[in-house]
Amino acid sequence: MDNLRMFLKRRWALWLATLAIWFLTTSTCYLVKAQNPEANKASLVIRADQPKGIINRNIYGQFAEHLGRLIYEGLWVGEDSPIPNTRGLRNDVVAALKELRIPVLRWPGGCFADEYHWRDGIGPRDQRPRRPNASWGGVDTNAFGTHEFLDLCEMLGAEPYINGNLGSGTPQEMMEWIEYMTSDSDSTLARLRRQNGRDKPWKVPYFAVGNESWGCGGEMRPEYYADEYRRYATFIKDHSGNHIQKMAVGSHDDYYAWTEVLMAQAAKQMQGLSLHYYTLPTGNWSRKGSATEFKEKEWQATLVRTLRIEEFIEKHSAIMDKYDPQKRVGLMVDEWGTWYDSEPGKNLGALYQQNTLRDAVVAGINLNIFNQHADRVQMANIAQMVNVLQAMVLTDKEKMVMTPTYYVFKMYKVHQGATLIPIELSAPEYKVDQSSVPSISASASRDKEGKLHLSIVNLDPNRSAEITTKVAGSTVRNITGEVLTAPMMNAMNTFDNPNAIKPTPFSGYQVQGSQVILNIPPKSVVVLELQ
Ligand code: AHR
Repeated sequence: MDNLRMFLKRRWALWLATLAIWFLTTSTCYLVKAQNPEANKASLVIRADQPKGIINRNIYGQFAEHLGRLIYEGLWVGEDSPIPNTRGLRNDVVAALKELRIPVLRWPGGCFADEYHWRDGIGPRDQRPRRPNASWGGVDTNAFGTHEFLDLCEMLGAEPYINGNLGSGTPQEMMEWIEYMTSDSDSTLARLRRQNGRDKPWKVPYFAVGNESWGCGGEMRPEYYADEYRRYATFIKDHSGNHIQKMAVGSHDDYYAWTEVLMAQAAKQMQGLSLHYYTLPTGNWSRKGSATEFKEKEWQATLVRTLRIEEFIEKHSAIMDKYDPQKRVGLMVDEWGTWYDSEPGKNLGALYQQNTLRDAVVAGINLNIFNQHADRVQMANIAQMVNVLQAMVLTDKEKMVMTPTYYVFKMYKVHQGATLIPIELSAPEYKVDQSSVPSISASASRDKEGKLHLSIVNLDPNRSAEITTKVAGSTVRNITGEVLTAPMMNAMNTFDNPNAIKPTPFSGYQVQGSQVILNIPPKSVVVLELQ
């Protein structure tokens, strides 16, 4: 009997030990393997002696669609709301977004753009029609329309980028919307705008003809869309000194045939051609992956997928080069970012997702790629600005948090409108099983005041990077900057803990003669000024 008891006790002890080991390994899977101090050794030459073209500030653009809680709740609370607001737009969100110096804001969609009729959103708010949001669910009260959007743009200091309705609209409707917004004449539509409270016309520099016309915007073939684009674009007119750059619907991912047809048949009529690419950790639209619950393998898979945007940009650009070697037509990446499974229990159509250090790393990588391809990429609009997909800020009633992605945009704003400085980077690969990616992503620029800025992302969540850095033609004496990192890969800001992850001053460098050694922490985004 005693033997049996002893045997059972031992088995229990064994089970408990196994359980404890399992718990310790899985619960620490988000933590840095601090025991592994060996740094990746990399080298970087900043070719300050070979400046390139300008990084269009519009690469730092945003996108706001009538979707989920973006417009209503996230931006618009109405004038009678207890949430502090200015003319209905919430003060906390506007103040946070102003800090990003947003150059351009795309609205009203997205898929929603091809079902939106602008006349629904003007005039007294209590008389505006309520329409079903056929793309994303719910009913749109139209309380937020043309005047409210353009008021928001003025508050933010952002230029408006309006997406017209090709899918269910008409050229006449598009033409009249532009006249309503931009004409200073005595026409009936300009008078109507004045009657609705806006005397002077607005400037509307960017206007798109439809959205994803190969999909939610009308399921069109490229040849058909090219003809439709030419027809609609003909009726986009400049009024009263406003000059509109016309944007055509472009491709997504590796749909190169679309770009080929559009460039062959309509390049002359456009100033921009869009490209959409979303980063899904799994690459599978029916099971995209969680925003917050992931292990290192999924961290790395997400980075593998986000890095593919460079291949897409290069191949679409090569097609554009054939028809437009002067690079007159911009490649407008007007939807990009992470897209995860909606949180369990949340409205699936609302596309609300949390945002972690992984999103910050994704943002840093993409912005570095856009900077590097600034000769063709003239605009990019992350999807989307508030409460939807890879958002800058999240709101819950009167509360608001800034996401890790917000801080990357804030740190990177030094590159807006600066001169691209080429770099020569050599860094080891970051490998998980058979899959590997470069461990470092970087870009550099010189701003109008002559300051040299360097942004670096360390993709490796385990190893820091020791980067031996030289600036061609000068010697670095001092470095200032910020680093965004955290102990966990899925570090995030929540409404209860809004400051869990935010940038801190960077001090990880040593000057050694004509070179400088940068110590970049694992899984971090760093932006530096090199003096
Ligand atoms: O950003 C969400 C949706 O993704 C947009 O409405 C659409 O253009 C894209 O498919």
